[in-house]
Amino acid sequence: MCTSSALFILRIIVLLPIRLIQGGIKTFRLGALSGNILVRVFMREALLLCDKTTFKDVLNPLFDMCLSICLGKKSFEVVSYPFKDLQTEALASQTANISTKFYWYCKPDNFDPETDPLIIFSHGGGFAIKAVPTSLFFFRNLSRLYPRTSIVMHDYTVTDMDHDSVRHPRQLLETVALYLHFSTILHYKNITMIGESAGGHLVLSLLHYLETRHLHLPRKVVAVSPWCNPNVCDPEERRKAPCNGSLDSLSFKGLDKFTALLKPSDPIYNADPLLNLETNFTPDTWNAVLKQTQIMVTYGRQEVLKFQIEKFVSKLAQLPSAPANLTVYEDGNGGHIEPFLNFQRNETVWSMQPNIASILKFLEQGP
Ligand SMILES: *[C@@H]1O[C@H](CO)[C@@H](O)[C@H](O)[C@H]1NC(C)=O
Ligand SMILES: *[C@@H]1O[C@H](CO)[C@@H](O)[C@H](O)[C@H]1NC(C)=O
Ligand SMILES: *[C@@H]1O[C@H](CO)[C@@H](O)[C@H](O)[C@H]1NC(C)=O
Ligand SMILES: *[C@@H]1O[C@H](CO)[C@@H](O)[C@H](O)[C@H]1NC(C)=O
Ligand SMILES: *[C@@H]1O[C@H](CO)[C@@H](O)[C@H](O)[C@H]1NC(C)=O
Ligand SMILES: *[C@@H]1O[C@H](CO)[C@@H](O)[C@H](O)[C@H]1NC(C)=O
Repeated sequence: MCTSSALFILRIIVLLPIRLIQGGIKTFRLGALSGNILVRVFMREALLLCDKTTFKDVLNPLFDMCLSICLGKKSFEVVSYPFKDLQTEALASQTANISTKFYWYCKPDNFDPETDPLIIFSHGGGFAIKAVPTSLFFFRNLSRLYPRTSIVMHDYTVTDMDHDSVRHPRQLLETVALYLHFSTILHYKNITMIGESAGGHLVLSLLHYLETRHLHLPRKVVAVSPWCNPNVCDPEERRKAPCNGSLDSLSFKGLDKFTALLKPSDPIYNADPLLNLETNFTPDTWNAVLKQTQIMVTYGRQEVLKFQIEKFVSKLAQLPSAPANLTVYEDGNGGHIEPFLNFQRNETVWSMQPNIASILKFLEQGP
């Protein structure tokens, strides 16, 4: 463990600056070099220097520590939900009682679960990395704007271990367990799910899961740059990546690492509508979802996931309930999860950034 951490740190010190300069030159040639683009190149190249061991031994313990320092050690809870019909699920043989952990980001005094809104946040990181502490900025600003809103951050099991019990659909079942904990056990009535990247996938597949089991759906869902097809490798999509992916914070190479950890190639999982939301799109289920839940999907024009997200939203947009309950926002200059990479200090200015303003407008709109 120590060797792998030391090697990783060495790689970061020696290789990352070289990669950053190379990446910077590439984007400079495209005439697109800016502070924000450098953050993206940093994220992309840093991820390529990581592997399963560094996720498990270095990054995840570090992010975990940051989160518990920022939010307070005592702000987390572990809840469990007894699933009754797991026979169809891959985890059935192991357990039907799924427990999961979450942090309270904030909970206003006199919070009324009947009317006051609860936001459940699912972080990204390819299902393998824990919540990156910078996502806290987003919620700090959000909680100042909406003082009556409770916010919880889901800390689901990630795929950084070589064991079937941490692979798909573990992350989804934990998301279901957390949602049902609040909605059916504690009777929270006004729940919004927000997820970015892999978390965007989780909040969308949650809807599919709940609808096919006739459970109550959340009021709203925001999927920021959702990874719609985590178990599909589409050569055309790779060929057509905007600017060859050189302007994005994510690369297909990085995604392939995550796919390998999420589920080893297995044809059954390719056909799973809960895993590959776009290629295995089920119109009837999604129309039923849109009759109950308002969905917002946002993505950036410069991100490598653009094509699969566009294909997914165009399938949603054809459904009869879409005009009323589907909102799509394409960020013209945006990369992957751009609204979560905004380090604007002034919350008024923050809330006026077009990609963030579009999310706030969606959160505020009735009914
Ligand atoms: C589920 O597991 C939790 C702890 O992991 C335990 O406290 C709880 O009693 C279990 N519930 C059932 C129904 O087995
Ligand atoms: C849910 O919360 C929102 C504020 O975000 C509020 O506008 C809405 O009226 C609430 N809905 C219900 C059913 O209480
Ligand atoms: C994109 O990358 C491929 C191979 O990596 C290369 O052949 C192609 O010229 C690149 N296209 C652009 C527009 O840079
Ligand atoms: C849109 O969703 C709301 C619930 O948020 C529902 O009452 C309404 O019927 C839906 N509209 C359509 C056209 O399905
Ligand atoms: C809003 O978030 C930014 C980072 O995105 C942070 O620097 C700033 O302090 C936050 N503002 C408030 C008022 O919390
Ligand atoms: C934040 O920005 C607004 C609008 O530009 C400005 O009026 C306000 O004074 C700024 N607040 C701070 C604390 O700088």
